[in-house]
Amino acid sequence: MKITFEGHSCFTVESNGKKVIIDPFLNGNPKARLKPSDVKVDAVLVTHGHADHLGDAVEISKKNNAPIIGPYELVNYCVALGATGHTMNIGGSYNFPFGKVKMTIAHHGTPAETGAGNPCGFLITMDGKMLYHAGDTGLFSDMSLIGQTGKINCALLPIGDNFTMGIEDAIVAVDMLRPGVVVPMHYNTFDIINQDPEAFRAGIKDKAVKVEILNPGESLEV
Ligand code: NI
Ligand code: MN
Repeated sequence: MKITFEGHSCFTVESNGKKVIIDPFLNGNPKARLKPSDVKVDAVLVTHGHADHLGDAVEISKKNNAPIIGPYELVNYCVALGATGHTMNIGGSYNFPFGKVKMTIAHHGTPAETGAGNPCGFLITMDGKMLYHAGDTGLFSDMSLIGQTGKINCALLPIGDNFTMGIEDAIVAVDMLRPGVVVPMHYNTFDIINQDPEAFRAGIKDKAVKVEILNPGESLEV
């Protein structure tokens, strides 16, 4: 599984010739290099309706004829705009041609105009490797249950504070999730979420967990 950071909370994930994009906030994202018109994917996963996550999902869905996978109300909002979609809800999983997606809880919000459904995170399994994208969320103790779902090869966790977990809580989240690799996200895009990712790295005491700080455009393999 190849995981590429596209800036903020956007990642592309590739395995065995299939590719998905998560939270494709590209236009208007000061950290993104990828252009929506250059995205070639089999699916678009969206955690919630805030503009810094929904982003260019509808345009990418239309151009690729790729379903938007996300919370029921949000996907229906996107379908009304011409996207294709696959609705899910918290706790559900589904086997797609590219892999399995399970929708997890996230403690956050989502705009009324995008349907006011629940925000979420995703557990994505492709070719036996599991990725956890937490979405925007505060810390919650059920992350220990998510950590028991199976070996999480890579976890993508917000550290920006103010709107989501900050560094201290993300360090606690790592203890519950016990991923092979953790990648911080949702920081330094805007001044209000400026953080030093090296402080996050320094706080991870479990030597079994590798911390990868990615710049936009950089990838890792798990
Ligand atoms: Ni948000
Ligand atoms: Mn956000």
